[in-house]
Amino acid sequence: MAIERTFSILKPDALQSGVIGKVLAKFEEAGLKPVAMKMVQLSRAEAEEFYGIHRERGFFKALIDFMTSGPVILQVLEGENAIAKNREVMGATNPANAAEGTIRRSFAKSIDANTVHGSDSAENAKIEIAYFFAGTEIVKYNWAK
Ligand code: CMP
Repeated sequence: MAIERTFSILKPDALQSGVIGKVLAKFEEAGLKPVAMKMVQLSRAEAEEFYGIHRERGFFKALIDFMTSGPVILQVLEGENAIAKNREVMGATNPANAAEGTIRRSFAKSIDANTVHGSDSAENAKIEIAYFFAGTEIVKYNWAK
């Protein structure tokens, strides 16, 4: 399997609830290593552009309100099959449907406050990483055991 990169956000509820470490541990246990990471407060304009694909959806305003309600952690995760692996570790979008042991089942409170975002395809991973990170902000990881 190929080493891939995917884009990940720890949403405001993860920071508010004090579970940053526990969420990162789930990624690390799954073999997903952060190769870029920063904590930011998203502006409305940034959040609206990032989630532009959902602009016409009924939940768009609530999504933007929530994503700008407090700081978030943006990261690039690297690992074997990282895009699918990340989605597996996150669990279903709605925590009520998320499998036992997943991040959303363990920590999320609602479909909006669902703790993490992760890219849904290789194409979107590329776009989302480039939206928030310059190439120079992504480290080269030493994969030697
Ligand atoms: P995320 O993976 O960040 O992508 C879009 C977000 O919109 C999603 O997680 C949810 O937090 C939020 N959302 C709210 N309602 C819905 C819905 N009905 N379907 C999909 N996403 C939703």
